[in-house]
Amino acid sequence: MTTAIRRATADDASTLRALMRELADYQSQAAEVTVSAGRLEELLARPDIGYLIAERDGAPIGYVSWVERVSLWTGQDYLALDDLYVCSGERGAGVGERLMRAVSEAAKGRVIRWEVAEANVAAQRFYQRIGATVSTKKICRWHVP
Ligand SMILES: CC(C)(COP(=O)(O)OP(=O)(O)OC[C@H]1O[C@@H](n2cnc3c(N)ncnc32)[C@H](O)[C@@H]1OP(=O)(O)O)[C@@H](O)C(=O)NCCC(=O)NCCS
Repeated sequence: MTTAIRRATADDASTLRALMRELADYQSQAAEVTVSAGRLEELLARPDIGYLIAERDGAPIGYVSWVERVSLWTGQDYLALDDLYVCSGERGAGVGERLMRAVSEAAKGRVIRWEVAEANVAAQRFYQRIGATVSTKKICRWHVP
């Protein structure tokens, strides 16, 4: 059995959308993944957006995604992680850590930042184990009708 991590391309849009739905479902947010496969193909072609897929024997078992951003306080570019997900039957075997290490290589020295739900203590423990710091902040969202 071989687990490989590779950069996703526009051809992976449908696979990634299915994995994104699994993650959203895990977080009880299934209705929030509304992106179409066509729009995701466009996003995958953007140079400021990154997706890595983990595959075991060619079958997708997880992914990580990010958007490149800039901090206006420091003037430094950083990677804003969007999702990290490993399929339920594949967890605890090191795939999540390999995905995070692969992101850190793609970051080329840039800081990596992301959000994690306060209730997701297992993921917080995982992030701390690999060396990330976890702090608390509230997220605001304003959708003006
Ligand atoms: C968090 C996650 C990506 C880790 O991937 P993984 O392949 O299981 O990670 P590894 O095998 O490299 O490391 C296992 C660690 O993940 C932790 N973990 C977190 N959620 C877990 C889960 N649902 N099942 C098994 N292990 C989990 C384990 O406790 C273990 O941490 P520990 O060694 O400190 O005890 C994966 O468990 C997952 O996809 N969880 C559901 C989605 C999620 O919470 N994503 C993060 C959103 S911010």
